[in-house]
Amino acid sequence: MRNIPDIVWVGGERIDRRTDPEGWTRAVRADIPLVTQMDDGDEGGDLIPTSSASMPSLVRYMLEQLDARRDHDVLELGTGTGWTTALLATALTGGIVTSVEVDTSVAIAARKALTGRSYPVPTTVIGDGLEGYEPGAPYDLVLSTMAVRHVPYAWVEQSVPGAVILTPWGTAYNNSGLLRLVVDHDGTASGRFVGNAAFMYARSQRRAFDGRRFVGDVITDPDKGRLRHTTTDPRRLREEHPDFAIGLAVPDIEQRVFFGSGPSAGESTTWYVDGRSWASVDHVPGADSFRVTEGGPRDLWDEIESAYTAWRGRGEPPREQHGITVTPDGQWAWHDGPHGRMACGPMSG
Ligand SMILES: C[S@@+](CC[C@H](N)C(=O)[O-])C[C@H]1O[C@@H](n2cnc3c(N)ncnc32)[C@H](O)[C@@H]1O
Repeated sequence: MRNIPDIVWVGGERIDRRTDPEGWTRAVRADIPLVTQMDDGDEGGDLIPTSSASMPSLVRYMLEQLDARRDHDVLELGTGTGWTTALLATALTGGIVTSVEVDTSVAIAARKALTGRSYPVPTTVIGDGLEGYEPGAPYDLVLSTMAVRHVPYAWVEQSVPGAVILTPWGTAYNNSGLLRLVVDHDGTASGRFVGNAAFMYARSQRRAFDGRRFVGDVITDPDKGRLRHTTTDPRRLREEHPDFAIGLAVPDIEQRVFFGSGPSAGESTTWYVDGRSWASVDHVPGADSFRVTEGGPRDLWDEIESAYTAWRGRGEPPREQHGITVTPDGQWAWHDGPHGRMACGPMSG
């Protein structure tokens, strides 16, 4: 049961089963994520993916990380097509599977697809998964298939001590963490990142500027910035692990890269915004100094460059040497270094 709708998007391309059955079948059989809804189902939007069938190999990895036992009760957040829910219900024959989906039409389609199967019918709930689902608590496992920027404390509160909470996690700057927390007896949860996963953000935790043009909509006076130069190559910062670590230090800054074409091929400009301030850094091949332009009260490039320097000073740890601790009062990111856990981001409430 994969319950894929007739229309899917792959790499932005729309594939309709009715007009391109072969293309659709090829896409469904491939080990790729399939976007199954754009713009929360609204017509004529900015074409921002809002629901999908996750990539099969990643779902498999996530289920391995959950380490489920047959009698575990599991809470899934982000039902989507219901495919992961079906896999959980097939495996956890002695436990109860509860799945929460915020989008009514997506949830209804999944509920229909999950009924009348060989496994017990999972409990499907239409609601905000960030609140967990108290009536089904306590849970032995919590699996989120939507990314969060802030782990809801409700997930910890509704879990038994020892429970695993697995969730895609990101910042406005970088969306690539798969976080595995273990709930402790003292009402906190803590754990490391265990891989690379870029899921769509939970509805109320989406980035502020998705679907908006940085230059034009967010930055209205790009020509009036303060000018200076840096010797830090902006491409180094965009590599997988520094990009993730910088995001921990400046979680509210969004970035976007534009690559030159024609006579500017090989060049790129990275733009950074926080809503009030902005910065851009130009990369030109072969140069050893790069132009920085900034506007607004905050010196965004300085903060980003400092976060990069700090990451290098910590020995350039990969994403998987970082983790998060969630308490009733807030949460913080840390680096598990040779001298123990060291905070590497602001505490968020
Ligand atoms: C990546 S898809 C889920 C994929 C799904 N597990 C599967 O196997 O097909 C993420 C889903 O999370 C849902 N979602 C977003 N925000 C949510 C929220 N606050 N609560 C519950 N579901 C949410 C989206 O509507 C979307 O269907």
